[in-house]
Parts: sequence; C-alpha cells; structure tokens
Amino acid sequence: MKLLITGGAGFIGSHVVRRFVRNYPQYSIVNLDALTYAGNLANLADVQGESNYRFVKGDITDKEFIQQLFREEQFDGVIHLAAESHVDRSISGPDAFIQTNVVGTANLLNAAVESWKGNMDGKRFYHVSTDEVFGSLGAEGKFSETTAYDPRSPYSASKASSDHLVRAYHHTYGLPILISNCSNNYGSHHFPEKLIPLIIHNIKNKKPLPVYGKGENIRDWLWVEDHARAIDVVFHRGKLGDTYCVGGNNEWKNIDVVKLLCKLMDEKLGRVDGESEQLITYVTDRPGHDARYAIDATKLKTELDWEPTQPFETLLSQTIDWYLQNDAWLEQVTSGSYRNYYEQQYNR
Ligand code: NAD
Ligand code: DAU
Repeated sequence: MKLLITGGAGFIGSHVVRRFVRNYPQYSIVNLDALTYAGNLANLADVQGESNYRFVKGDITDKEFIQQLFREEQFDGVIHLAAESHVDRSISGPDAFIQTNVVGTANLLNAAVESWKGNMDGKRFYHVSTDEVFGSLGAEGKFSETTAYDPRSPYSASKASSDHLVRAYHHTYGLPILISNCSNNYGSHHFPEKLIPLIIHNIKNKKPLPVYGKGENIRDWLWVEDHARAIDVVFHRGKLGDTYCVGGNNEWKNIDVVKLLCKLMDEKLGRVDGESEQLITYVTDRPGHDARYAIDATKLKTELDWEPTQPFETLLSQTIDWYLQNDAWLEQVTSGSYRNYYEQQYNR
C-alpha cells in the first residue's frame, strides 16, 4: 500500500500519521503538507526517521505539483486531512479556505481519477470532514449520516463543498471514496487558537480566558486518538461510497469546559480552588455562531465496532498534562505570526 496522507503535520493529521506509521510497517506512507502556520513537523519528531515514512512539503492548491506527485508516486490510497480549519480565521479571511478546502480537494480528486483510471480496484480516497457541514442544532436531536447539509460559516461551507465534490466524483467517475464527518477533537499537539488548548495556555500564563457570547454554545468533544482510530477503521473496513459520522457522545457547554479546565489546572498548578475562574472574560460572540453540535455515531458502532474512549475528565486531565510537560512546543507555536493573530482576534 502506497499511502498519501495530506495535512499530516497538523493536529489530527499528526496523530493519524503516527498511528499508521506505527501500525502498518508494510505501508509506504507519504505525508504531504504545506506547513502553514498550523503545520508543525515537531508534531512528528518521534516517527520522522521511520523507514515506512516520508515527508513531502507541498501545497494541494498547486495543481501541476499534485498531478506530478501522483504520477511519480502511484499511490494506492489517500487520506485527505489538509485544510484550513479554524472558523474564526474563515470569518476574517475566507479566501484561503476556498482555495485549500475546495480547490485543493478538487486537485487531489482530479489527480486520483487520472492516476487510477482504468483500474480502481483496491484504491481508496478517504476525505476527512467535519460535523459543521450540517449546520447548527437546537436543544434536541443529533447529526447523522442522513442529516441535510446546512453550512453557516465560510469554513463549514468550504468543507461542505469539498464533501459534495468527493461524492460527485464517486457517482460520476466511480472514484472509490469514503467520507467521515467528525465532531470537535481535543488532545495533544492542538494549535492554541482552538478553545481547549487556548484556554490551557491562558490559564497557565494567567491571561484572560475569552468566552464567546454567554458560553452557552455546545460542542461534542472527542479525544483525537479516538478520531485517528476511527479513521483507521473507516479507511480499512468502511464501505466504499459511504459516509460515517464520528463523535464523542460527550456534549458540553463551552463555559462548563472552561470551568472544568480551571478546576483541573488549579489542582495541577497548586493554585487556590477558584483562582483561574477569575480569569474568565466574556467577549463579543462569533458572528453566526453555531449553537450546538452533537453526533449520532450509531453507524460506526454497529458496522465497524468503533466507540469513543471515556471518561472525558480523565482524557482532558491527560491532555492538560501534555501541554504542561511540553512547554517548548507551546512556546514555539505561540510565537511569531500567532501573536499577531491573537492580538487581532481578541482586541477587536
Ligand atoms: P489543522 O489546522 O491543525 O491542520 C491542517 C494541516 O493542513 C496543517 O498541517 C497545514 O499545514 C496543512 N495545510 C493547510 N493548507 C494546506 C495546503 N494548501 N496544502 C497542504 N497542506 C495544507 O487541522 P486539524 O484540526 O488537524 O483538522 C484536520 C482535518 O480534520 C481538516 O480537514 C478538518 O476540517 C477536519 N476536522 C477537524 C476537526 C477538529 O476538531 N479539529 C473535527 C472534524 C474534522
Ligand atoms: O465540530 C468540528 C469542528 O470543531 C472542526 O471542523 C473545526 O476544524 C474545529 O476548529 C472545531 O470548530 P469550533 O468552531 O467548534 O472550535 P473552536 O475551538 O474554535 O471553538 C469551540 C467553541 O468555543 C465554539 O463554540 C467557539 C468557542 N470559543 C472559541 C474560541 C477560540 C470561545 O468561546 N472562545 C474562544 O476563544
């Protein structure tokens, strides 16, 4: 199996690369990543010397480069994670999302069709997507594989567009595809522009903890290593042409997640109980902020025997420990352009 993983230097991608490099020594794995602000090869320091792994720096929006790479490498499988992934950045600058998430995905699809035409046996194009394509839930119900698309941010609209393209290439060209739509991930190596690592970073440094609106929005949190395991089972055993919803069965209001982080970190840092909660600062809400996400992952459980690891508090506590023990990683990713982004985002 010659496997292309795109976006492998990012948060989820690095967990997927590590899992595949370790579990499938017989595969030849190419990690293609443009190393944007979100891509970091330090995330993969522990596997970089493995004989079944190779990193290629490249941009999926570069059509000729992608075509050439597919011609040279003759991939059998693709797991596509490369994307612009942060909703707030999509609001302040949607163009990069349309380029990478839509045009970049189309380039990969075209290259796969070209490379595999005439013999698609044993080939797999797996597109990793998000539950945000389904829009926003009210108090009841959950997203499932049959939920209609209703994206509401430039990020989710660009991911929805890419999902539609992937399905269209299956129906039109017979491309052997798989799609999964996953809920919010948390864990190690998460770029601290996203809620959980941002709050951990700010608690540690006694900085304000920005909570959008009233903090009432709900997310369904899944441990990133559970997502990587889901990607593994869907890639190997999923039904071609099918979609799988992946979720943590673990809904939390943002304010409750922030308070739990404060409590756990006060204990770990030897602070007085309640000290970090004083840092909570309610800030201007995200425009078009989706109220609630929740996933019904019954299909993945019944067909592929996948379930999330529990409980959340234990995994969140381990996650905090990782950030506290990996100071150098946090310092590296929060320097430079991140500081400019942070200033703009929180001093609007
Ligand atoms: P991330 O932002 O941490 O990583 C994205 C990676 O893609 C980075 O390494 C970046 O360098 C690379 N990349 C960006 N543009 C590129 C380009 N033009 N060419 C090549 N590489 C490029 O993202 P993540 O949170 O790890 O998300 C990975 C995927 O999973 C995305 O497709 C995202 O939509 C999806 N997803 C994320 C979550 C989540 O909670 N983070 C949940 C569900 C689905
Ligand atoms: O649901 C899956 C999606 O989860 C992925 O597709 C996205 O790539 C990923 O970024 C994530 O999107 P969210 O917008 O849900 O994640 P984020 O961490 O940005 O925000 C989580 C919630 O916390 C959301 O309701 C907004 C809120 N928030 C976020 C930040 C960064 C705050 O209250 N304050 C903040 O500073």
